[in-house]
Amino acid sequence: MAMGIRELLLQGLNSDPKYIDLSCRYDEQGSKYDEECTNVEDYYYYKAEEEIVRTFAAVGLSNLEMPFKLFELGCGSTKKSQIIIDEILRHESGLAYGLNDLSADFLEKVCEDLFAIYGSRLKVDTLAGDFMTVFPKIRNYRGRKVLLWLGGLQCFPLNIQPKLLLNIASTLQENDACLISSDITQDREKIEKAYMDFDDSKPNSKLYKNGVHVLNRELKSNIDLSKFELEGRYVENKDVSSASYIQVWLRSLVEQSYVLENVGKTVAFGKGEKLLLYGGNGMSHKYTLGQLEHLFASVGLQIVNQWDNGHTALTMVKRKI
Ligand SMILES: C[S@@+](CC[C@H](N)C(=O)[O-])C[C@H]1O[C@@H](n2cnc3c(N)ncnc32)[C@H](O)[C@@H]1O
Repeated sequence: MAMGIRELLLQGLNSDPKYIDLSCRYDEQGSKYDEECTNVEDYYYYKAEEEIVRTFAAVGLSNLEMPFKLFELGCGSTKKSQIIIDEILRHESGLAYGLNDLSADFLEKVCEDLFAIYGSRLKVDTLAGDFMTVFPKIRNYRGRKVLLWLGGLQCFPLNIQPKLLLNIASTLQENDACLISSDITQDREKIEKAYMDFDDSKPNSKLYKNGVHVLNRELKSNIDLSKFELEGRYVENKDVSSASYIQVWLRSLVEQSYVLENVGKTVAFGKGEKLLLYGGNGMSHKYTLGQLEHLFASVGLQIVNQWDNGHTALTMVKRKI
């Protein structure tokens, strides 16, 4: 992370097995697919998360002392966050809202949408780029702040999650808080239906494959997706210091090679070779509540409240003083 996208793509292609880091799929188009996933019937996570955000807005907001500036990491369309913003603006005259996501173009459109809804009552500023580049800016904000990170933590490999959380902890002053959502679903059938129903007409599959479109554009190549097939599996792990997760890859159906014009290199795939669509162990992690408690404690974050509906937990953490 915090590497340029070309470096990140090259690092993945030079690895064994080859991979495309998950963050590479979220260009402007990828962010749109991500939004479309919210309408997929079997993709339980979005609706479960929306429900828990609604619960929080109704019963949890009173745990936060107003006023504060809300910073959102990896905000996407902000549809869910708007549930919280609506509730805050029922009581407050205005709210400062710092928005972060990878694509500056996508963020610009989100800002336009937010202005159309809230006008000047929502004072929005954007922090485009990788989390690692925006943490110092958030840390420098001197007023009271609340960080919001929805649908994000679980996307990162197990060895990266503590690093991101440590950075979050370092931005928090005594009166600040952070709200983090996590997938706590333990039903294998439901999980496999949501993540492994590969179908090119569905936004989930389009989002998985978008990393290849980004690769073709950034490295000037022409990797042909019709010569690969999507496959995946769910890896269950109950160890308290770990989590369960999904692995999704593209399997090369033939022997093939492609020139990467922008870097003067060639990448070759053997027949049957896997191109992983994540870096590290996997993606879309699923936690038990014990695993979450262990993870937060290991980075000096104290759970001060938690709401869960069996599929999603929304955890409010503070820095341990
Ligand atoms: C699963 S989506 C969640 C979007 C939104 N928070 C929601 O809950 O609907 C993950 C979001 O994180 C963003 N993202 C992924 N990696 C990131 C990184 N390293 N830095 C900043 N944003 C990132 C993606 O662009 C995407 O919008």
